[in-house]
Amino acid sequence: MQITLKNLNRNYGTLHAVSGISLDIPSNKIFGIIGRSGAGKSTLVRLVSLLEKPDSGEVWYDDQRVDNLSEKELILQRRRLGMIFQNFNLFSSRNAGENVAYPMEICGKDKETISKRVKELLELVELGDRIDAPISTLSGGQKQRVAIARALACEPDILFCDEATSALDPQTTRAILKLIREIQKKMNLTVVMITHQMEVVRDSCDYVTVLSEGSVVETGTVKEIFSKPKSEVTKDFLAHLTTADQDKDSTVHWSKVPGRYTLRFAAGNTDTPIISRLTKEFDVEFNIRGGGVQKVGEDEYGTLICDITGEDEAVKKTISKLKRHKITVEETL
Ligand SMILES: Nc1ncnc2c1ncn2[C@@H]1O[C@H](COP(=O)(O)OP(=O)(O)OP(=O)(O)O)[C@@H](O)[C@H]1O
Ligand SMILES: [Mg+2]
Repeated sequence: MQITLKNLNRNYGTLHAVSGISLDIPSNKIFGIIGRSGAGKSTLVRLVSLLEKPDSGEVWYDDQRVDNLSEKELILQRRRLGMIFQNFNLFSSRNAGENVAYPMEICGKDKETISKRVKELLELVELGDRIDAPISTLSGGQKQRVAIARALACEPDILFCDEATSALDPQTTRAILKLIREIQKKMNLTVVMITHQMEVVRDSCDYVTVLSEGSVVETGTVKEIFSKPKSEVTKDFLAHLTTADQDKDSTVHWSKVPGRYTLRFAAGNTDTPIISRLTKEFDVEFNIRGGGVQKVGEDEYGTLICDITGEDEAVKKTISKLKRHKITVEETL
């Protein structure tokens, strides 16, 4: 299911929570929406998932306009959507299996179908043996797995994840993201992934849009955004990424001082000895403090953490020449 947003606006009093957002969210992909707290992510997701109506603008699912549906149509359409949240929103009065059964009861499925499907879904999220477990006895990661199974119960076209991993530790986060990726492929789902963490975007998304103050700052494939971030907001998100993922970030630090610049370059960029040329050309020095490889989806990027010293003007020229060689330069201090 493809989602198209046309000039969406949502105000709360004088506050423009969502302001002129137009986006194409492609079918059968994982689409990330990243932004700081208050950027408007949850508001946007409420509009896209038809929980709230925009003040103006349009929401389309494939060729159907859905922001102006009647109450009855809305209920039916919303059954085609799955949602998971940071705080899981499970019923504590129901056990794991009964939570997964709930949406199917609402849809009026018969008991036998429900019980078969509950088993299948809990097996899919690797909790086949915890069907009778009270919710209070499950870990955070397990609760989110139950929530995922419940979200998938009525075979949705779209899965919305609003900060679904924000309450989980990094290892559990990776396991949940891996599960979401597997399910997305298996079920041909369109996934909308709301987050404030670049790690989540890197480890799960195909596309990402960056939100700031209710508006889109930039949108692209994760590969594009990581290798050529345009806006300051995006660069700031990326600058805080380097040491986050122990498995995939193999940066080696051979200095305790952090280094002022982080250079990022895509594999197979060039055979030119750029750094030694720049040293000669502008009479600057590179003091390398760390370096390694970072994996973004299937692609690998080299990173080099360094200081560049010399005359101010020479350092500026060095940086702009690095950028011309398609190397991203982020200032880390
Ligand atoms: N129902 C509401 N009534 C009034 N103001 C609201 C309402 N919902 C959101 N806002 C305001 O709209 C802005 C965007 O909020 P939103 O919850 O969409 O941000 P967010 O990006 O999801 O933030 P977070 O990362 O903290 O969840 C905030 O300033 C918030 O206070
Ligand atoms: Mg939010």
